[in-house]
Amino acid sequence: MQLDAHHISASPAGLNAHALPTGTEFCSGAVNRTGINGLSQCGTLGLTTGTFHVSAVQPISYVIEEVEGLLDPDNKTLLRGVVPDSFPLGLSLNPAQPGERRLVVIDDNVYRIYGAQLRQYFSLNGVEATIVPLPTMEANKSFDLVYEVARRAEIFKLNRRKEPIIAIGGGVCLDVAGLVANLYRRNTPVIKVPTTLMAAIDASIGIKTAVNFDNRKNKLGTYCPPLGVFIDRTFLRTLDQRNISNGAAEMLKMACIKDAQLFYLLEQHAEQLRATSFQDKAASVAMRRSIQGMLEELEPNLWEHILCRLVDYGHTFSPEIEMAALQYGDELLHGEAVNIDMALTTQISYARGLISREEQARVMDIMQRFRLPMWHPVCNPDLLLKGLRDTTKARDGLQRVPLMCGIGEAVFVNDISPAEITSAAAALKSFALQTSHSSSENNNIVAAPAKIAMPV
Ligand SMILES: NC(=O)c1ccc[n+]([C@@H]2O[C@H](COP(=O)([O-])OP(=O)(O)OC[C@H]3O[C@@H](n4cnc5c(N)ncnc54)[C@H](O)[C@@H]3O)[C@@H](O)[C@H]2O)c1
Repeated sequence: MQLDAHHISASPAGLNAHALPTGTEFCSGAVNRTGINGLSQCGTLGLTTGTFHVSAVQPISYVIEEVEGLLDPDNKTLLRGVVPDSFPLGLSLNPAQPGERRLVVIDDNVYRIYGAQLRQYFSLNGVEATIVPLPTMEANKSFDLVYEVARRAEIFKLNRRKEPIIAIGGGVCLDVAGLVANLYRRNTPVIKVPTTLMAAIDASIGIKTAVNFDNRKNKLGTYCPPLGVFIDRTFLRTLDQRNISNGAAEMLKMACIKDAQLFYLLEQHAEQLRATSFQDKAASVAMRRSIQGMLEELEPNLWEHILCRLVDYGHTFSPEIEMAALQYGDELLHGEAVNIDMALTTQISYARGLISREEQARVMDIMQRFRLPMWHPVCNPDLLLKGLRDTTKARDGLQRVPLMCGIGEAVFVNDISPAEITSAAAALKSFALQTSHSSSENNNIVAAPAKIAMPV
């Protein structure tokens, strides 16, 4: 796998795309046709038994590329289309020709900054672009937005064989556009252009799409691979510092449980990465390591059939915390909620003797230097327990909580007790309240103090 162009290619584990059903009985009379369908290999089986076994696999293949100057009219990357008759849909090397069309769904804040450049890009290339700016923020991440984008696709009379939807924005925009692409005519290709750090290293590169539903985070969603993902780091220059730190939380996640080198890099360069909005050389390495690590975890488990997922670090309590904060009227960004979850589980790891006091302090030091919150008023033990219960249910009855056990290492545990949560929460809360002179970007949430006095 190259670092600057990641190719994802997978089939559901346990299924071999070209394996025939085993057993002479099942295959007796099989017509030896090429293809991946189980039934087509079985000849008269259904006719003789009345029982039909359908078996197929969906190959996944898409490319994630770093791109410089994505909106430079001479750069044709964004004009790439669909390889005719490809399965799975393939990203063509050929750009759209003058007269061709594109439907572009874009976050409205991103549109305000880059709209003129985007319009000029398509116009100078002779491509007729219908650009749809939408308020793709977390509070709007519902099926209403999905419906709105689908309506625009219908008005556009999108030709899904030739005209990929282009989605440009943060994780919310890409999740919504991805879901529409999966629903509209059952599968429309989508090109994702992440413009936040969170989206570049996480939300854009997997195959999950979702919107919130019934006050529950990402409860309606699908698995839908993009046609391609183009990451132009210069978009981050206009992203505010709070959202930069928000993305850094997901990066710290990978560092804590999987990548000690990335951890050292963040330790050495945290302030600089934040201050330069991830524009310098260290940022390039950090982003690539982060993406590489994430893809190593995602690729063999795209459909999440393996429930012990390292990438779930920080995602046990955080969905509940994130949605409660939204209701509370003091929104936490996704990465901020993840960070609070990581602060809590770091405390649990320390209390269990899985990490040393010094290692805990190093983690919290990075959190502090990225100005990430470690606490929020909604984090009472009842809410945290509910979060754990919900996650346990989603993980098929076992907690499967990844806990740090050293820098860059993790173990899965199934026995976190209510008492442990209560005690960790109390330690973290008093630690946070001691330092209520918040240095966080969000004034209502509590970040780490300038000098870390560790919770006991
Ligand atoms: N599908 C997945 O696998 C996956 C993974 C992680 C997160 N997510 C989802 O991603 C969402 C969070 O994504 P996010 O953090 O990107 O938030 P976001 O999409 O809400 O964007 C954050 C803010 O930044 C603004 N913005 C975006 N790009 C900008 C730019 N270049 N310059 C200036 N402003 C810009 C947006 O208008 C928005 O206000 C959550 O809903 C989360 O559930 C999905």
